[in-house]
Amino acid sequence: MVKGVVLHGGLGTRLRPLTHTGPKQLIRVAGKPVSQWVLEDLRDAGVREVAVILGTLSPLRVVEYYGDGGWLGLDITYIYQGYPYGLAHAVYLAKDYVGDEPFVVYLGDNILAGGIRRYVERFLESDADAMVLLAEVEDPRRFGVARFDESGRLVGFVEKPRVPPSRYALVGVYMFRPPHIFRAIEGLRPSWRGELEITDALQRLIDWGLRVEYAVVRGWWKDTGTPRDILDANRLLLDERLRERRVLGRVEPGAVVEGRVVVEEGAVVEAGAVVRGPAYICSGAVIGSGSYVGPYTSIGRGSRLERVEIENSVVMDDVVLRDAGRIVDSLVGAGAAVEASEAVPRGHRLVVGERAVVALERGGAR
Ligand code: DAU
Repeated sequence: MVKGVVLHGGLGTRLRPLTHTGPKQLIRVAGKPVSQWVLEDLRDAGVREVAVILGTLSPLRVVEYYGDGGWLGLDITYIYQGYPYGLAHAVYLAKDYVGDEPFVVYLGDNILAGGIRRYVERFLESDADAMVLLAEVEDPRRFGVARFDESGRLVGFVEKPRVPPSRYALVGVYMFRPPHIFRAIEGLRPSWRGELEITDALQRLIDWGLRVEYAVVRGWWKDTGTPRDILDANRLLLDERLRERRVLGRVEPGAVVEGRVVVEEGAVVEAGAVVRGPAYICSGAVIGSGSYVGPYTSIGRGSRLERVEIENSVVMDDVVLRDAGRIVDSLVGAGAAVEASEAVPRGHRLVVGERAVVALERGGAR
């Protein structure tokens, strides 16, 4: 039986301060944590047993959220990595767990439009030692990149090259048949960024003459490493995966809920509020009277909106937005509050987290 290995560690540095209270893979986009989309993709590809590799950023929150995985139709085992010594290091920790079975490694911060089922099937039908997924990207420098020879044969990979040898980036989904991959990892040295790179282990498999196959992904793929990526992933998931309207929460008479919208049980859309899809309102959220939630917006659990317009944005859990005017293209971290106040002196009064970006409308605070 094919097994799954989900990488849920790392430091989340590029997403600070959003990762201050937990791992980036638990940031909810289109209603679900990124890693839940990952786990569901594995399940839909026929995987039942998954090892989740945990890092140092609130690993217990991951265990609390997923539990034994039964509610997702999975059997989850947790393996603690601690400090992120690299993707290959994380994969090696699953050596005993996978035993002799073929397995799929899925980075917990990657999202693919069409899931991974067709690729897993292809791998299982083949007798390849490894299979990777590639995507053509504009700027390959922030990824692992595939190298081909003149005849178009795959000859290697390089991690985050200054001069990319092709436009084909390694997607965060890798399939392996033991034991060679573990032997390859055993011989690795840390890279220039001090990590054991899975990219280098793949290179060794090719150098040893083993069969490393690839498939080019159809449709979009996102590595949700930056705030911009999270907004993109939210928009793409609401577009592609939110197929139908599901209103289980309370929509008061006089409220307008239009188009493909999910209002989870326990959420409230008050009289005089407008929600225009595609949009996702999580349980416990309250969209107050005089508020407008526009297309491509996700509102987290327990968040409260009062007299606010918001569009193309991700609002995490327990946020308060009150009399805050019109908010667009924004990412609001858990527990944050954005509200207008009558207090003097006039001006914006901010407690802004490390590396936060606040873009104000010119002349907005006179
Ligand atoms: O997203 C695809 C890219 O992922 C590939 O193109 C690159 O070849 C690959 O190296 C990787 O690059 P990143 O720099 O984006 O990897 P990142 O450090 O963001 O880690 C990816 C995921 O794995 C993330 O969910 C955190 C987790 N992780 C990372 C490390 C280094 C671990 O669980 N343990 C680790 O030791």
